[in-house]
This record gives sequence, C-alpha cells and structure tokens, in this order.
Amino acid sequence: MIKVAVTGALGRMGTLVIQELSKFDDLQLVAGLDAVGAGKTLQPSGVIVSDASVLQKVLASTKPDVLIDFTVASAAVENVCSAAEMGVNLVVGTTGFSQEQLSKMKGAIEGNVAAVISPNFGVGVNVFWKLLAEAAKALKDYDIEVIEAHHNQKKDAPSGTAMAAVDILKKAQGEVEIIHGREGIRLRGKEIGVHAVRAGDIVGDHTVLFAGPGERLEIKHQAHSRTAFASGAVRAARYVAKKSPGIYSMADVLESR
Ligand SMILES: NC(=O)c1ccc[n+]([C@@H]2O[C@H](COP(=O)([O-])OP(=O)(O)OC[C@H]3O[C@@H](n4cnc5c(N)ncnc54)[C@H](O)[C@@H]3O)[C@@H](O)[C@H]2O)c1
Repeated sequence: MIKVAVTGALGRMGTLVIQELSKFDDLQLVAGLDAVGAGKTLQPSGVIVSDASVLQKVLASTKPDVLIDFTVASAAVENVCSAAEMGVNLVVGTTGFSQEQLSKMKGAIEGNVAAVISPNFGVGVNVFWKLLAEAAKALKDYDIEVIEAHHNQKKDAPSGTAMAAVDILKKAQGEVEIIHGREGIRLRGKEIGVHAVRAGDIVGDHTVLFAGPGERLEIKHQAHSRTAFASGAVRAARYVAKKSPGIYSMADVLESR
C-alpha cells in the first residue's frame, strides 16, 4: 500500500487528485491539507482536512510515502521543504516558481527524497514538448511564438507549461531573446514571443507557431479537462514512492511504463 498526503486538498486539482486516488486499491489517502476549510471531510475517503499550518505534525502522525502538492508557489516551497526534511517523497504540480524558489526546493530535495516536478502531468503535453524539440531543431531560422490560454482564476503567467516549452525551444535555437507580449513600434528580432490569454473557464491551451517564408507550422495541445493532469499526478506518485532520492520528470514516469 502506498500512503499519500495531498496539499491543496480542496483546490481544483487537489479535489480531482483525491478522486483519482480512490480508484486504486494500492493507493491510500492518509491526509489532506489546505490553507482554508480545515475540518471538512474529503470524499470518498472520509479523511478530515487539516490546516496547512500543521503540515509537519500531520506528516509525522500519518507517515505518508508521498506528498502531492497543488497549491501556490510560495506555499509549495514551504511544503516541499517540510516533507523533504521528514523523508516524504514528493509530486509537485504547482507552477509559477521563481528561479530562487526552484533552487530552494531542489536544495531541500536533493540527497534526501525522490520528487517528480512537472508543470504539466498530461501525457499529451509531454509528447507536445518532444515534438517542439524536433521542430525547433529543424526550423532554426523560423520565427517562433508561444501562445497559451487559461481560465480567469489562474494566478501565474505565463503558464509553467509555456515556460517549459520556451526552455526546450531555447535549447534548440541557441541565443534568443524572450519577449512577453508586444506593444509599440519595434521590429521583430531574434526572439521568441510569449503570450498569455486569461479568459473564462479554459482548462489549458498551448500553441507554438513556427513561421517561415511562405508557410507556418503550429503545434497545439488543448486540455479538455483537468482529469488528465490528476491521473498523471497519481501515476507519478506511484512511480516516485519507491524511487531513490533525486529529481525526476514526467518523461521519466512515462518511460517507466
Ligand atoms: N502540473 C500540472 O499538471 C498542473 C495542472 C493544473 C494546475 N497546475 C497548477 O497547480 C496549482 C494549483 O492549481 P488549482 O487550479 O488547483 O488552484 P486552486 O486555487 O483551485 O487550488 C489551490 C489550493 O491550494 C490551497 N493552498 C494555498 N496555500 C496552501 C498551503 N500553504 N498549504 C496547503 N494548501 C494551500 C488553496 O486554499 C487552494 O484550495 C497552480 O499552480 C496551477 O498552475 C498544475
């Protein structure tokens, strides 16, 4: 049995992750924590939501093998440090980390616990990233634009998935400037344009456009439902539960099939 705790248990993603966990006999939700709503009962497990401020106490008493975090960047860093200190492996789905926050998290994880960190747990998105690398290598002189769209409650912009795409494109293209949106009078240079749309209840769209003389190629991923992310996160939890310390990607999880 793999014992799992969830931070952000009452959020959009936490709720779906908890539902997904309940489908498997080898996974057991032992704790759910949130910054609001302590005392609520999580269905179908019957676990009572604990306040996020008592995370270490809850981890000590419930002894999970894995903590799955879908919160906000500032909270996730603290949650990751607490779990790593207590030897609890991690699945980190939260996005919007600064470089400093990422370094702090990585420092806490390395040598202590195993963690899967991914800004997107969708299987299709991981194929999308692979396709981008190939296209960017083949289309070195093409103009590249990254356009993402999400619901109007999303706090961080651009999305973690879009920034992961930018990293992949930069690796293939070499020295290139990243331009977030455009305004005013200026010619396009050696740059990748990144555009974030926030509207309605869009779950998550990502398009990368490669435009050259007389043609353009668009590689696009659209998430229709968050269940794709929740099932990927649960799959990552099963993967990471028995892993030796280190930081793993969703690509590692998918290759382990
Ligand atoms: N990796 C992926 O596949 C993926 C997919 C979707 C969303 N996300 C990311 O996951 C994060 C959460 O997204 P969401 O849509 O569920 O947001 P949400 O706002 O619906 O849920 C976040 C929850 O975290 C809680 N929270 C805040 N601080 C906390 C703390 N210290 N401890 C415990 N809980 C705390 C909030 O009260 C809220 O219930 C965001 O960063 C989002 O970008 C990642």
